[in-house]
Amino acid sequence: MRAEMELAFELNGRSCRIAAPPGERLSDVLRDRLGLTGTKVGCSAGDCGACTVLLDGQQVCACLVAAGQVQGRRVTTVEGLANGAELSRLQQTFLAHGAAQCGICTPGMLMAAADVLARHPAPTEAQVRDGLGGVLCRCTGYRKIVEAVLAAPHGAVEAPRPEAGRAVGARISKLDGVPKVTGRERFGADAAPPDAAWLRVIRSPHARARFSLGSFAPLKRRHPGLLDVLTASDVPENSFGIFPQVKDQPVLAAGRVRFMGEAVLALVGDYESVMAIAEAELPIEWQPEQPVLEMDRALSSGTPLHEFAPDNVLIRGRVVKGDVDAALAAAPHMAEGTFTTSFVEHAYIEPEAGYAERIGERIRIFACTQTPYMDREEIARVLKLREDQVHIVPSAIGGGFGGKLDISIQPLLAVAAWKLQRPVRCIYTRPESMLSTPKRHPARMHARLACDGEGRLLAADFFGDFNTGAYASWGNTVANRVPIHASGPYFVPNVRALTRAIYTNGPIAGAFRGFGVPQSTIVHEALLDDLAEQTGIDRLELRLRNAIRAGQATATGQVLQASAGLALCLTAVKPAWEQALSAVAGFNACQHALTGSRRGKRRGVGIACMWYGIGNTVIANPSTIRVGLRRDGRVFLYNGAVDIGQGSNTILPQICADALGLPVALFDQVMGDTDLTADAGKSSASRQTFVSGNAARFAGEALRRRLVELLRAPGDARLAVEDGQLVARTGAREWRTELSALAVDPNGDVAVGEGYFDPPTTPLDENGQGVPYATYGFAAQTAEVEVDLDLGTVKVLKIHAAHDVGRAVNPTQVEGQIHGGIAQGLGMALMEEYHAGRTDNLHDYLIPTVGDIPPIVVHIIEDPEPIGPYGAKGVGEPALIPTAPAILNAIRHATGVRITHVPATPDRVRKAILDQSR
Ligand code: FES
Ligand code: FES
Repeated sequence: MRAEMELAFELNGRSCRIAAPPGERLSDVLRDRLGLTGTKVGCSAGDCGACTVLLDGQQVCACLVAAGQVQGRRVTTVEGLANGAELSRLQQTFLAHGAAQCGICTPGMLMAAADVLARHPAPTEAQVRDGLGGVLCRCTGYRKIVEAVLAAPHGAVEAPRPEAGRAVGARISKLDGVPKVTGRERFGADAAPPDAAWLRVIRSPHARARFSLGSFAPLKRRHPGLLDVLTASDVPENSFGIFPQVKDQPVLAAGRVRFMGEAVLALVGDYESVMAIAEAELPIEWQPEQPVLEMDRALSSGTPLHEFAPDNVLIRGRVVKGDVDAALAAAPHMAEGTFTTSFVEHAYIEPEAGYAERIGERIRIFACTQTPYMDREEIARVLKLREDQVHIVPSAIGGGFGGKLDISIQPLLAVAAWKLQRPVRCIYTRPESMLSTPKRHPARMHARLACDGEGRLLAADFFGDFNTGAYASWGNTVANRVPIHASGPYFVPNVRALTRAIYTNGPIAGAFRGFGVPQSTIVHEALLDDLAEQTGIDRLELRLRNAIRAGQATATGQVLQASAGLALCLTAVKPAWEQALSAVAGFNACQHALTGSRRGKRRGVGIACMWYGIGNTVIANPSTIRVGLRRDGRVFLYNGAVDIGQGSNTILPQICADALGLPVALFDQVMGDTDLTADAGKSSASRQTFVSGNAARFAGEALRRRLVELLRAPGDARLAVEDGQLVARTGAREWRTELSALAVDPNGDVAVGEGYFDPPTTPLDENGQGVPYATYGFAAQTAEVEVDLDLGTVKVLKIHAAHDVGRAVNPTQVEGQIHGGIAQGLGMALMEEYHAGRTDNLHDYLIPTVGDIPPIVVHIIEDPEPIGPYGAKGVGEPALIPTAPAILNAIRHATGVRITHVPATPDRVRKAILDQSR
């Protein structure tokens, strides 16, 4: 027990006295001793800025401030920003501008912004960017945060409150936004029963090893607060995995580990005890083995990671259409290249956290997740319970991007709480989160692309290997999705696209915004530029000539019926493209004159396009949404789709409200609770707006029919809730009933509507022919960059992004998704590269800061999807996909060198420039 001292300081304008060890982190004092969980913790190392508070009016990282340092000083946290129920102007502008997505960085951003505004009452953009530079945001791309701070001195922008029938298309503020800007949002680390024991995971320091365990009795004697040490033998069914046929990952390793960071033991007890145990005290006997880290070695080593995959190939993907060899042989122009990519970390700011508690013969888990219903199924399997014995309550989710589709803490907490019959909580450290959770697949891809003299594509031939690491995770999805997309959003008559997902002892690779398509898009977009050069056709024009249109067949033979807006996207960015080409030519001529041909700076413009199948690939993809009307006139959405920051908590009510015919302002909701909602599927594959949006629409329509019947009014009557009455009107006629007089069901609803949607797809045959998706998103992005030829550094100057989203249900949120995707694409292009054991923190693993993000011009294209809710498709993953190839193509335009391995770090760019000039 550390010695405590009496601290006296001013906290949010009031005097505060509390006893705490003087060396304890201020973030811990605020959160654990004072219950002010608005201050978030993303790293405990001064890297993320989530814990930013004001100390005597200046921003500091609370995780780096010792409690003793606040003695006699002034501390302001996010809880101190609002005046009672009245939000500060800054909080209001954050809401109105859509500056909070998942919200985990928002308290830190607000405090940093408060510091900026105190120093600069009417700040410039440069001052704002400078002031926010210490706080990382992985969702927003920072643009809307900067906008919000700049707007704050000028008063709040009033967000629209659309009347009935006008919610779709309105820029309403996030319906769940207020808790995010006040710090009241409860993320996984922000709530747990007071008597919860703590769980600490012991992980493998080896990428491949055997191990044996000794007795834990001496350890328990030395640490009386240690309640239990869980091993593989404590797990009733010790395997999990995304696909029913590949449950290849143990909850706790059983004598053998396959990647660095694999869970081996779980220590459960009081916090001080489990944290005090040194790893050297643990009775683990390691026998390290030579890890197989490279895909080539995995294929040839003869040492399978799993018995069921003797060649270490998890799965092969295949799409073949036409006669590729003949078309390539006859084509007048062909481009060819090999490209490789790195492991990329999700780097959501919220490390995995939550708790589990056993309630009789049921288990309840409160945790961050993108997929509560899959978690329920998986936990039931691991504990050998029925699914109705498992209750998943999603916490607010501090970013996911695919990384929280896999279970992490959930089975460990469930096993511990079930066995010990007391609540158990766990918060991953930042290094633990990065070491143990899935990454983007590194890929090695080779392709050929051919066209005729007019630039019309004739054939695409693609082969890609994807390093899926030690366990399958979403490797199957990546291997199957990539071949469908590998020829790009173009009409190509002959296509052969083959993939493999390969097991290695590397980090697990899984779902990350795009399921492999961001990697393969780099390839076709580079080769298109090569063909443009060969044919002498402008790069945008070449893409426009080949852009797939309604009525044409994709690589899988699917004839697009409608909503294929790539040509519209290209047309939208064309003026900016032409202007940028001319501007960089002028800049480069000046630089050449000043510095000669090999020195100084050069600018370039790149373009890249993408398409993306919305929803699961081929497999069933259903969503069910319910909505009820309450006696108090409020509408309650039983929303099983979790909002990971992408905005489904706002989008789905907007859609449902218009279908129902009542204002969206009447809506309340519960999100993702498996006892209260129906299964709306995963928040992944950019599917919630399209799939759950349709379910929400049908639910709204069903409730509307029910209410109209109840009033005995005609089907086309307009509904309203007025003075506690439900009202229907047509022309001068009116029907009314007192809501308080109506009977309610057990949930408190007087009437309920339910909607279900499963997108129409067909299985693919042995050549990958069929209808894998019901609809596709399209986009074209241009990037303007400046490359320092001497240093190899690349600065992105501007991006234009045109995205066909079918219908923008909420344009502010669509823009926010595009900004955030671009920021992640920029990171992938220029800086992000994960190495297990070396970059497991936000200091060595670089993600874009506010200073890295250029101006972004968003062009929203609405080519309506006939079966989408009010025409909508999806934008979450499409936002990221074209960014890296656009930047890489811009680097080539600026320097003449093709970077074939991402990220294009300064050393790689510099080396490529030097190699070229030799
Ligand atoms: S938690 Fe303090 S900087 Fe990350
Ligand atoms: S909104 Fe900034 S990290 Fe999610």
